Amino acid sequence: MAERVVLAYSGGLDTSVGIGWLKDATGKEVVALAIDVGQGGEDMEEIRQRALDCGAVEAVVIDAKDEFANDYLMPALKANALYQKRYPLVSALSRPLIAKYLASTALELGANSVAHGCTGKGNDQVRFEAAVAALAPDLTSLAPVRDFALTRDKAIEYAAKHNLPISQSKKSPYSIDQNVWGRAVETGFLEDPWNAPIEDLYTYSVDPAIPRDAVEVIITFTEGIPTAIDGKAVTPLEAVMLMNEIAGGQGVGRIDIVEDRLIGIKSREIYESPAGIALIAAHEELENMTIERDLARYKRDVESKWAELVYDGLWFSGLKRSLDVFIDDTQKYVSGDIRLNLHAGKATVTGRRSETSLYDFNLATYDTGDTFDQSMAKGFIELWSLPSKIAARRDLANS
Ligand code: ARG
Repeated sequence: MAERVVLAYSGGLDTSVGIGWLKDATGKEVVALAIDVGQGGEDMEEIRQRALDCGAVEAVVIDAKDEFANDYLMPALKANALYQKRYPLVSALSRPLIAKYLASTALELGANSVAHGCTGKGNDQVRFEAAVAALAPDLTSLAPVRDFALTRDKAIEYAAKHNLPISQSKKSPYSIDQNVWGRAVETGFLEDPWNAPIEDLYTYSVDPAIPRDAVEVIITFTEGIPTAIDGKAVTPLEAVMLMNEIAGGQGVGRIDIVEDRLIGIKSREIYESPAGIALIAAHEELENMTIERDLARYKRDVESKWAELVYDGLWFSGLKRSLDVFIDDTQKYVSGDIRLNLHAGKATVTGRRSETSLYDFNLATYDTGDTFDQSMAKGFIELWSLPSKIAARRDLANS
């Protein structure tokens, strides 16, 4: 029996041509694997058929939308995960899930290698291969676009010559990756970082500059996870889809950033993640109500480390696993309601309530009902500043 390789297949030009390229270059049979992470667009059955028409021996489609939301997006939400404080890790979150299925499908179908359609310049190649290495260390990773220098022009030529069923008309000037957590758009005129983004880059969000009435939504969290929206119970996937609609309808979640890739290149990226940005704003504020001071402060540091690890392709690493245990433990009391005002591209928290809140009205109030004994503050400050005071005396004596 011929050796086999499992290719992460999107249905687009590069991975469609990649089937033939892999076969020609390695002599292996190609199994195409398409994962539904809520990217929308084409029907997955059509994509499956196209893989077969392009020469795959088998084509597997997996609906992983709920798993993606439950096991990848919810941990990211608990971590308030934003790379460089702004990018909600849209692509970085889908890669480990796809890699997991690449590895398991390879082992199941007797393949000794996996493949992806990434170029040699981005983060995604690292994420796929590092994840596969961590899950199935004996599998080899192949990257036809990178390793056999498959340019776009060559791909188009190959598709025409072999009569592959891919329409060239859908060719976009941008490189786009999308899933239910958001969209990433690169290349084209965006490569000049001085060029402002234009309206037709966006599909998950409307133009925030167009006047429209604000909307208000109440998000209920249970231990860090959104479990109801405006009182209606939702699964994580439903919460994300609904928030994409509501927040996207107010132009929330557009991001324009110059980003530091793992491989050392700075790149200009446009993202939109209405649900991601709105849910993180709500979740973070509920944490402010429910997590004690030192834990909350420390967690903010852990969050940025978590985002960097995930960005850098280390989802299946020991450090990431241990940070997840820490983060999960912090979520025990992150339950309650957040009222979010969505308007003109912004998600603003305007109210919070929780049965496990640490906010104590009688301690906070400046009105009657004050239970805080202000006389205690004096001695506290005396001791708190004692080390500085002693050091200052020494510094003065030696100056
Ligand atoms: N720069 C982002 C990241 O590394 C997005 C990459 C998405 N890929 C694409 N073809 N647009 O996570």
